[in-house]
Amino acid sequence: MSNLSANTLPTKVRIVEVGARDGLQNESAVSTQDKVSLINALAAAGISYIEAGAFVSPKWVPQMADSRDVISALTLPDTNLTALTPNLKGAQAAHEVGIKEFAIFTAASESFCQKNINCSIEQSIARFADVMEFAKQHNIRVRGYVSCVLGCPYEGDINPQQVLKVSQMLLELGCYEISLGDTIGVGTANKVDELLDVLLAHIDKSLLAVHFHDTYGQALTNIYTALNRGIATVDSAVAGLGGCPYAKGASGNVATEDVVYLLQGLGIEHGIDLERLAKAGWAICTALNKQPVSKVSLALKNQIANQ
Ligand code: HMG
Ligand code: MG
Repeated sequence: MSNLSANTLPTKVRIVEVGARDGLQNESAVSTQDKVSLINALAAAGISYIEAGAFVSPKWVPQMADSRDVISALTLPDTNLTALTPNLKGAQAAHEVGIKEFAIFTAASESFCQKNINCSIEQSIARFADVMEFAKQHNIRVRGYVSCVLGCPYEGDINPQQVLKVSQMLLELGCYEISLGDTIGVGTANKVDELLDVLLAHIDKSLLAVHFHDTYGQALTNIYTALNRGIATVDSAVAGLGGCPYAKGASGNVATEDVVYLLQGLGIEHGIDLERLAKAGWAICTALNKQPVSKVSLALKNQIANQ
């Protein structure tokens, strides 16, 4: 390890596993039981933060319509289960099934915000005030997503100052962390650095997470860039599942297996059993009738087959 890496890389990284939500929201429908099995397998592999569903309109995202049933079927006292809650209705439904952490989501791009949640950025912030109030009353933490931080499918380049402005609005509302979404996976390492130059001048690194989709194969490099800036929370999806229903052509998040392999190589603590994680990915991919979008997962599969 170089001196530079030793000085700046975090010693421990928190993985937020979003495969059961971000992944499965954009795959063909899988059964409630398959989702429950996936989340249980992820927890058994040592993942302690799992986004388990979304309390959004079933007309908008039918794949998440059974989130209530999925979460009700889980008994994972040591796992932080989170869910998307775009409005008070979603927050109340998530609370009813015992969710202890909400995620609200807006965007750095007006056009994407309209397509995704049918309102302007400003309106989304006003809408979230109800969610925050409800969360406060029930002692629930709230995470904030900002989509399109490195580019928008409708507006192209996004000014980092706009990402800063929206992130600050979410922090002022009371979010404990901002997850920076490269929703369509167009960012490159220099863009990540430029964005973090702007954000880290105003926001402490402990309040930021990265959420990179891998459409152009840059996610892992971009994560490494962010780790070198001291970011210590990474969102990822087992087997690289998914995409975004409101960003055509966007592929899934970076695969959790690939991130874990990277962290292992860097000597960064993560608490996850890679083989058990890969097996969780193989099982959900069997249910989906597809191959994992993870080189690490495929390499492990070959290695085991050849043993
Ligand atoms: P709207 O149509 O503006 O809202 O949708 P509305 O209040 O007028 O409600 C319309 C209908 O939806 C009503 O039903 C409501 O009851 C129902 P109807 O009377 O027509 O039968 N409704 C709900 N049902 C269930 N749960 C709710 C809920 N709220 C209203 N919570 C809304 C606004 C936000 C609801 C809608 O636009 C929506 O659900 N959007 C979902 C968008 C979504 O889930 N996108 C994918 C996730 S975000 C993402 O992937 C990006 C991220 O990964 C980060 C990144 O990669 O960048 C997080
Ligand atoms: Mg996403």
